[in-house]
Amino acid sequence: MSELSVNHLLGIKYLNKKDIQLIFETADHFKEVINRPIKKVPSLRDITIANLFFENSTRTKLSFELAEKRLSADVINFSASQSSVKKGETLIDTVNNILSMKVDMVVMRHPNPGAGVFLSQHVDASIINAGDGAHEHPTQALLDSYSIRERLGDVKGKKVVIVGDILHSRVALSNIYALKLQGAEVMVCGPKTLLPKYIKDLGVKVETNLRKALNWCDVANMLRVQNERMDISYFPSTREYTQQYGVNKALLESLDKEITIMHPGPINRGVEITSDVADSDQAIILDQVENGVAIRMAIIYLLASKIKHV
Ligand code: CP
Repeated sequence: MSELSVNHLLGIKYLNKKDIQLIFETADHFKEVINRPIKKVPSLRDITIANLFFENSTRTKLSFELAEKRLSADVINFSASQSSVKKGETLIDTVNNILSMKVDMVVMRHPNPGAGVFLSQHVDASIINAGDGAHEHPTQALLDSYSIRERLGDVKGKKVVIVGDILHSRVALSNIYALKLQGAEVMVCGPKTLLPKYIKDLGVKVETNLRKALNWCDVANMLRVQNERMDISYFPSTREYTQQYGVNKALLESLDKEITIMHPGPINRGVEITSDVADSDQAIILDQVENGVAIRMAIIYLLASKIKHV
């Protein structure tokens, strides 16, 4: 039987091509399950999962919780803002206290890059990174690639541009790793100030002109400007950013071909994307969210099958 090459999902950079194929094939099965009248399977009845969120989330938190419940796992939720972290408890103490309640798997979002790797080296549980600072967001990249595969038939050979605040984006880095592993061509596009200096080392094309980037690509993944991670100004004004790097219907209609629009959410309507694009048939934003549940069910199922027979 096929299994993942890893015991944790800490980042796309630790996966290989076969892992991604296995996750997608397993997600195909779970996507069929969650579209049945009875959306639940008993696979993980003996597994307990803790969702630890040290940073805000809507989509990822709800998607993981739903995925776990659809697999019949027992679920506990932890939010740092309502916990003893506020009283000075360390990450390892917090997690070891939770694990002593017989928890098998930890899903963690944390503001510090590498928090998941650190935890995996110090606690005895399977760890899933649900976003670590500006580093990686592996489940987002997997659901993004899965959605491209669903819309365009395959990821291999497709041209994907990631637009906007690349510098502060964990979605961008995980997407670059995932897309390149599957044989896609990747470009990043944004103001020079929001493109990391090392970015070309990752084997991506770089473009600062949005129209040129959109005319090149099959898929544009629009990123939010992450003001919460900025301590200085990276562009003169939001209005100017939108003029240079926002997509609207008129711009898309003036291109040589019809392209697919993606966005990981949360959207800032009218900044990086207008409502007439976000709500159009060209956008697969809500498909991404739907696919997120199937992808997370697949990952949890595959990792759980490595810790005990399911
Ligand atoms: N895409 C994403 O990670 O959204 P949340 O921050 O709402 O989880």
